[in-house]
Amino acid sequence: MINAKIIGVGGYVPEKIYDNAYMESIVDTSDEWIIRRTGIKERHISADNEYTTDMAVKASEKAIKNAGISPEEIDLVILGTVTPDYFTPACACVVQKAIGAENAAAFDYNAACSGFVTGITIAKQFIVSGTYKNVLVVCADTLSKATDYEDRATCVLFGDAAGAAIVSASEDGSGIIETELGSDGDLAITALAYRNNDEEIEKRVSHKKETIWMAGQAVMKFAVKAMADASRRVIDKAGLTWDDIALVIPHQANYRIVDSAIKRMGITNDKVYLTLEKYGNTSASCIPVALSEAVEKGMIKKGDKIVLVGFGGGLTWGAAVLEW
Ligand code: UT7
Repeated sequence: MINAKIIGVGGYVPEKIYDNAYMESIVDTSDEWIIRRTGIKERHISADNEYTTDMAVKASEKAIKNAGISPEEIDLVILGTVTPDYFTPACACVVQKAIGAENAAAFDYNAACSGFVTGITIAKQFIVSGTYKNVLVVCADTLSKATDYEDRATCVLFGDAAGAAIVSASEDGSGIIETELGSDGDLAITALAYRNNDEEIEKRVSHKKETIWMAGQAVMKFAVKAMADASRRVIDKAGLTWDDIALVIPHQANYRIVDSAIKRMGITNDKVYLTLEKYGNTSASCIPVALSEAVEKGMIKKGDKIVLVGFGGGLTWGAAVLEW
């Protein structure tokens, strides 16, 4: 039976750094508050002329190299973002051309921070149906270009990054074992496009409608339950228990969310890989960037079972259990 398996991953973060001292210089906050309430010390920020597709190309090239395939072998490029360079063309088309994936179809999707689990779930459907063999899933966001830097409750959280994976047909039974996606339109994290909505604009400190706004406390509460419960359900569906899981890579939004979710899962910190301190919340790329680092560090061995779990704007959530 054909399954879908991640055969190569790659991550990219831009050079420029906003540390907590810089955040203190632009809003009324403190290093102490940010670390205690979020766990974040630094975020990487794209250059003024660096956009989502520029970062996505860099992460994709690494994933292709690590997978040991050529760009021409890619059948489909899918790109998850909430900060596209353009409304059209799709960022995926820009990446497809830039990396030379000349035989690939391409489209974007938006599941916000749940984008990586959503992307590998989409890839798996195309692969197990026999439609495609190699799918490039790339998640990239320049959240800094949509951040309200007058709002201390959100601007300390976000950074920019891209993460990519090659998902390929596998016949050895390993790979993406189970995934679950979900959505609940209440509590939406918002950034407005064409639509005008006075009530939404009023919520923003800067009144810039394209910037990100959220009800932080409520999102936090939702996230803990959604991540813990969705992870348990995919593990149950796979016929596994938490004892079978070698590593969990959660969406990296806030250390307190991860910590409470871990407690609800009943697992210990040593089973969880975090990049939060260095990069902050980079939306859908958090998981593939962390996954790519964990692989580079030799933390995931062949045969290990791992859980990827995220939540984000929408609100959306997604969990996956994989055999590496
Ligand atoms: O990718 C998914 C997207 N989002 C998330 O995962 C975010 C989820 N939520 C959170 O991470 C947290 O809710 C925040 C970090 C955003 C806020 O932490 P909190 O513990 O929920 O704080 P709060 O909103 O209840 O605010 C407590 C106080 C308020 O002051 P008052 O009203 O008690 O005087 C805020 O104004 O903390 C204040 N505050 C700050 N103080 C210093 C909010 N942001 C800051 C700040 N520095 N950066």
